[in-house]
Amino acid sequence: MQGREPQEAAMRRIFVIGIGAGNPDYITVQAINALNQVDVFFVMDKGEEKDDLVRLRKDICERYIKDRSYRFVETADPPRDRTPSSYEPAVRAWHEQRADIYERLIESLGDGECGGFLVWGDPSLYDSTLRIIDQIVARGRVTFAYEVIPGISAIQALAARHRIALNRIGGSVHITTGRKIAGGLPKDVDDAVVMLDGDCAFKTIDDPEIDIYWGAYLGTKDEILASGPLGEQANEIERVRAEAKKRNGWIMDTYLLRRRKD
Ligand SMILES: C[S@@+](CC[C@H](N)C(=O)[O-])C[C@H]1O[C@@H](n2cnc3c(N)ncnc32)[C@H](O)[C@@H]1O
Repeated sequence: MQGREPQEAAMRRIFVIGIGAGNPDYITVQAINALNQVDVFFVMDKGEEKDDLVRLRKDICERYIKDRSYRFVETADPPRDRTPSSYEPAVRAWHEQRADIYERLIESLGDGECGGFLVWGDPSLYDSTLRIIDQIVARGRVTFAYEVIPGISAIQALAARHRIALNRIGGSVHITTGRKIAGGLPKDVDDAVVMLDGDCAFKTIDDPEIDIYWGAYLGTKDEILASGPLGEQANEIERVRAEAKKRNGWIMDTYLLRRRKD
């Protein structure tokens, strides 16, 4: 395990476990082995989707943890300013508050106990857990060792469900957010995966040479897929997305925008 050097045998341990982006079958053997060492799972309630996502985490534990007792500690996510005058400082302030909470959770572990953060998809992608843990390590107030277990991200799920490779031969893939592609793909980008797009930014792109491969609730029973020329699909995806969001109370969707080449 990486982190601070163990100073005593009974050091607290933390696993940051990627649980895959929706289907309990996405979990890896390495994740199952880690789950089976955790005494306390820390769950941060957040967003409209929280009930479904907390439920999925508990289902994963019930299904994969054998003959061992564990407990869940649920805490409320600190409120976040969604309309800040400056985006990055607002996010940093929010991460500080979350670091305080995570630090207390880690501190609450008994000597030698193991804590687990169950991260949706993969911890390396649009998730703040690792940045927050770095902050806690830098503060140095609580000593622990930690390990990161990769998971199947929404991006891999999207590619698999559409049966496509993300890159063209020798090409690059750009991973970004809806906010960043509003108005058009950067000139040197031919393949872009877009996440965290609550506003259907694809609608703002008027380019007959672009195809979209879209997926919502990937890996779950509610999964919806659509693909084709962006100009033909955009309105229909927006309509289907709005309907599904109304029906389920929340939505998570990801898409690839691909510039057609001869
Ligand atoms: C906070 S990010 C977390 C990403 C996650 N760490 C991963 O590896 O997929 C949330 C975004 O991931 C995407 N996402 C996560 N799960 C998804 C799913 N099952 N179907 C479609 N998109 C999903 C959406 O773009 C959503 O806005």
